Amino acid sequence: MKKILLISLSVLLPLCAKASGDIGIAAKGGFPEYLFLEKVNESEAHSTAVMISKSLAIGRLVIFAQMGKLTDPTLGDKGFSGDVFADQWKSALEAEFMDASPTQQRIIDKLIWAGKLSMDNNQDRLNVQGVKWKHFLPAKWAREAGLMFNSRTGIVTKQPSVNYRHPSNAPDLKEIEVLTEFVNAGTEAKPKGEFAMMGKQKVYRYFDPINLMPPCLACHGKPKGELDMLGFEKDGFDAGDVIGLISVSVAVE
Ligand code: HEC
Repeated sequence: MKKILLISLSVLLPLCAKASGDIGIAAKGGFPEYLFLEKVNESEAHSTAVMISKSLAIGRLVIFAQMGKLTDPTLGDKGFSGDVFADQWKSALEAEFMDASPTQQRIIDKLIWAGKLSMDNNQDRLNVQGVKWKHFLPAKWAREAGLMFNSRTGIVTKQPSVNYRHPSNAPDLKEIEVLTEFVNAGTEAKPKGEFAMMGKQKVYRYFDPINLMPPCLACHGKPKGELDMLGFEKDGFDAGDVIGLISVSVAVE
């Protein structure tokens, strides 16, 4: 028995050593153009990214306004379905996008579809009675809406943060650079964008700071390190501080 084990180990170990050098490495090349289903003209890239970022920020606020009701443990059905949310969101967006081009309108329609679906997907969680915090927040809605929007358009949205809670919001090198700049600027931080390459695809990357409001501090405020009601360590921020940003990457024709 011992002998068999020793023999099999001696056969396997060199294989493991070889494999570990090749595992977990980013594939070279990639991002073929077909991943990007929606593309905009270079001249429309900035305004499109602004529209997407603003829509997500406004959607977050529409949900934020409902948080009292959504976290009321005495209620069962909260009456905040995808349809109810989408109606409120659309009327908040109407004034913003009066002069959207047909391409931009189609992209916004797909974002609204994704945002509504994200809300629909959370109904079972939200309508539980007897529980206050059901792990549903504006940031979670925006993350999940962003995933579905991405699968239908190729457009990438993220909410990278100083201390991110969800792994998919881990900032990349560019986002760390912009976050550092925004954190230092605080309430003076201004959105910014630039053209870049994603593999072979030219994209426009846009970054819009997210500043904290007083109610956010229950989880993201002081004292730093104390556990919030969801079990994460508080970040130690004050109202007005930049916690993160909305990051949008739009493919350019
Ligand atoms: C009840 C605790 C709580 C409150 C209050 C809260 N957050 Fe968060 N925040 C979280 C959690 C948990 C996540 C991760 C959500 C996810 O993606 O599933 C998160 C995620 C985020 C993110 C994305 C980065 C990340 O950590 O993944 C941003 C940006 C953010 N919150 C900003 C805010 C702002 C702005 C407010 C106030 C309007 C706020 N939060 C209020 C708990 C909270």
